[in-house]
Amino acid sequence: MTVVNTSSEWQALEAHFESTRDQHMRDLFADDSQRFERFSLQLNDILFDFSKNRIDPPGFDLLIDLAKAAGVEQWRERLFSGEAINHTENRAVMHAALRNYSGKPMYADGEDVSTEVREELERVKALAERIRSRQWVGSAGQAITDVVNIGIGGSHLGPQMATEALYPYTLHDLKVHYVNNIDENQIQRVLAGLQQETTLFIIASKTFTTQETMVNANTARNWLLQSVDADQLGLHMVAVTSNVAEATKMGISAENIFKMWDWVGGRYSMWSAIGLPIVIAIGGDNFEQMLQGAYAADEHFRNAPLAENIPVVMAMLGVWYNNFYNADSMAILPYDQNLHRFPAYLQQADMESNGKSVDREGNKVTTETGPVIFGEIGNAGQHAFYQLLHQGTKLVPADMFASINNFKNDHNHHPALMSNVLAQAEALMKGRNESEVRAELQAEGKNEEQIKKLLPYKLFDGNRPTNTFMYDRLDPKTLGTMIAFYEHKIFVQGVIWNLNSYDQWGVELGKKLATSILRELDADQQVDSHDASTNGLINYYLKLRNR
Ligand code: F6P
Repeated sequence: MTVVNTSSEWQALEAHFESTRDQHMRDLFADDSQRFERFSLQLNDILFDFSKNRIDPPGFDLLIDLAKAAGVEQWRERLFSGEAINHTENRAVMHAALRNYSGKPMYADGEDVSTEVREELERVKALAERIRSRQWVGSAGQAITDVVNIGIGGSHLGPQMATEALYPYTLHDLKVHYVNNIDENQIQRVLAGLQQETTLFIIASKTFTTQETMVNANTARNWLLQSVDADQLGLHMVAVTSNVAEATKMGISAENIFKMWDWVGGRYSMWSAIGLPIVIAIGGDNFEQMLQGAYAADEHFRNAPLAENIPVVMAMLGVWYNNFYNADSMAILPYDQNLHRFPAYLQQADMESNGKSVDREGNKVTTETGPVIFGEIGNAGQHAFYQLLHQGTKLVPADMFASINNFKNDHNHHPALMSNVLAQAEALMKGRNESEVRAELQAEGKNEEQIKKLLPYKLFDGNRPTNTFMYDRLDPKTLGTMIAFYEHKIFVQGVIWNLNSYDQWGVELGKKLATSILRELDADQQVDSHDASTNGLINYYLKLRNR
């Protein structure tokens, strides 16, 4: 049974919540001139401001007490020591070993993996360098101009997010494209602009059985065969997988198959050979900077006291809203265009990890677990869903991101962008009270009757929490650190909720059903073996398709 919500630390938090739930952040700031200094942390060039949260210093201490009582420190050591903490699959969880610059060994299931990790990284960098320097040539002797990564979930979201995030570091005459959807509209649109002779596909799939990826890989293969001889396919296809046998069957030669280990979960795999498209896009040195950034976050997470530990603080504030305020979502709001895929990336990282309702002992949980993660570029969100964030009935804690310097620093753009992130976080915190609205309407020349009518609509309760990450510019190191912060945040929350954050049985059922329904669709016979709705939809589709 989940004991965390029966512990004295949990109960102390419940009592604290009851006595402080109506406290306004305006007052917390007014009462404490040191609040920003007290509630902000820094690692390298990343400032993490968490002062705009509905927490006072005693409440913060209670959250840290809860982390201690739940055994976060012990679990952290179990994680880093390579114990098989993914107990339902009997696997270690060792993505940190992929960015271990300590010079010390790291173990997965008792074996030091440092050497093979380094060897695989060197292979990846060597291949990427051959492509970037135009030494890798295709079947017609031409250099590669376009790389298409075919993969989904963890074999797509991290690489795509990082390639976009690090766009200023990419080679602009070598394009990296991403295909994840089984809907042919996507791959056909990508292929329409490409030439077989100058295109290289990366088939990225840990299992090499994922339906979407296998169907797309087949389409890519057939497209290549329009201009490339079968025995030359290896010049246009490489693979990243732990299922070498299946990749070989596709005609990919052994030296172009890159390894994945079962101790790296898909959604934590961008640091492995799954990062190949990133390395092709930004180069080996920049990729290593990203790994260095993640390593810095690992060291911080391992060594900093819990109250000064950025991932721990992120996690515990999330627990505070999720389990005490009953907030059921959280928003990821980058004010940094290059981070536009970060919300989608974090959706998988967080929701596939902690979207669970059975605890580590196999019992139904008795607390709320992972929230719904959503997000969008801040300014775009402002003109779309921020209305609800400001005045809706739901509490939606948000993380915001802003770079101090942009790559261009155009005076018309960057200060305006910064003014938006600062204003939104302030507005969400402060809100606008009756006297402020009244003064504004009076200044606009409204009479008393007009003011009375409009006033209720113009009030903002405020007291809506945000964290702000501010960094110099989004370089590979900063990105690596920030991603690893979230990985560790998710880990800590998994500990608090007593979950195994590293399996994903919840995606199996739909996959199985899709396989059997596809057989029925191929048989092209009316069906009656499902519920009435599914039967009705299948039969309607069969009747009307190809009409
Ligand atoms: O279906 C979910 C999932 O298993 C993810 O966990 C994973 O990242 C994704 O599918 C892709 O899996 P693979 O890399 O094996 O194709």
